[in-house]
Amino acid sequence: MTQPAQTQRAAVILAAGKGTRMKSSLPKVLHEVAGKPMIDWSIDLARRAGCDPICVVCSPGQEELVAHIENRLGAGSVAFQHEQLGTGHAVQSAAEALSGAGGSLVVLYGDTPLIRPEAVQDLFAALDAGAAVGVLGFHAREPGAYGRLILDDAGALARIVEAKDASAEELAVTLCNSGVIAAPAEKMFSLLGQVTNENAKGEYYLTDIVGLARAAGHRNTAVVCAEDDVLGVNSRVQLAEANAAFQARRRRELMESGVTLVAPETVFLSHDTEIAPDCVIEPNVVFGPGVVLASHVHVRAFSHIEGAHVASGAVIGPYARLRPGAEVGAKARVGNFVEIKNARLEEGAKVNHLSYVGDGFVGAGANLGAGTIFCNYDGYNKHQTRVGAGAFVGSNSALVAPVTIGKGAYVGSGSVITEDVPEDALSLARGKQVLREGWAIRYRAKMTGESEE
Ligand code: UD1
Ligand code: CA
Repeated sequence: MTQPAQTQRAAVILAAGKGTRMKSSLPKVLHEVAGKPMIDWSIDLARRAGCDPICVVCSPGQEELVAHIENRLGAGSVAFQHEQLGTGHAVQSAAEALSGAGGSLVVLYGDTPLIRPEAVQDLFAALDAGAAVGVLGFHAREPGAYGRLILDDAGALARIVEAKDASAEELAVTLCNSGVIAAPAEKMFSLLGQVTNENAKGEYYLTDIVGLARAAGHRNTAVVCAEDDVLGVNSRVQLAEANAAFQARRRRELMESGVTLVAPETVFLSHDTEIAPDCVIEPNVVFGPGVVLASHVHVRAFSHIEGAHVASGAVIGPYARLRPGAEVGAKARVGNFVEIKNARLEEGAKVNHLSYVGDGFVGAGANLGAGTIFCNYDGYNKHQTRVGAGAFVGSNSALVAPVTIGKGAYVGSGSVITEDVPEDALSLARGKQVLREGWAIRYRAKMTGESEE
């Protein structure tokens, strides 16, 4: 144990549900929101809230999911719930795995990706302030099947009633249970030991620990967050809703931090997209994972950017594609129908039209003309192309890697370059032009049988 017992925080993530409504061969919680599997959102949430250990409850037979989780959290991080007897029973399934955890324990879910770490921190703070149980609630637009948080006259949380067990009066309550519940680990398990399945669903409800704690004379606290933060995913439609909620949230955050999104609803961000202030993002731009844009980058319309770093003042697009390993230097330009992959453009380099720059380096201020292709692949291996600073590659040139164009060198248009070009040299590698004066006149005369003169 690395932390003293009273500040230790642990998390259990429930993911034993079969997720049949996804109609998928992929386990539900491996479906992605903003480029990250939902289970990883929950694991990252637990980590950001300071939880260690983290235990995920799965059902037997979810091998692909178990492998994914152990890959992220290590062996022994998965507990199995053999029969799904309710959320309380699911948490109890983790008791053995968490037997060393003496501090606070929070229950999270593998299918609720957008909960903010601050909300979990608030629950832990409520426990630190003496609450027996802390519950994350939200005001539901349509309370429907959610459990209702019943407060007492002083605003303390008295109990949670499941919709199926609720009276008409209780069903009118709009403050609902997100499912996220925290308690000191020992108290959580001892209260769960008292939970029965005598209710409408015949399940062991985790939510019953609230009323049990209250009956034992303890105080409970409800923490309230936004409904969009606790969106649960059971179907592809809800998966799309979670993605949309993330996009709306992240676009707003970026704009508030000083990024211009000309048409925010058309810009798609990944979970880790970083865009510095004073960048301008035009309409219809898609960011895959792993993108960092420094300040004053201008991304023009219809660009697709993934796994790329772009330095200050660069201009990307319209219609540009940056693939993983693209490193674009300050004030460099990547124009229309240009693809950059695993290649570095130094400051002020220009690749403005219709080019492929894969596996290479383009020095400061170098200019690759329209249709320059780095021929990086021989069918077996990838090879490097290096273009020195200030070099000029004429349009429609193929640079056959491995090859180096020296600093300040020129490559004539239409060349196929297979050998290194020294600094400041000119290399032409194309058919020599032939010229026959008056040939066309003679040709036409022959073909038509008439003289043109
Ligand atoms: C639960 C809450 C309800 C809350 C709602 C929010 C209980 C009793 N009720 O209801 O108050 O408003 O969540 O969505 O907790 N799971 C297991 N094993 C089980 C049962 C469930 O792992 O035996 C997992 C499921 O994978 C699911 C989650 O726990 O992700 C919630 O279970 P579910 O049965 O959907 O609970 P709800 O009826 O939605
Ligand atoms: Ca549910």
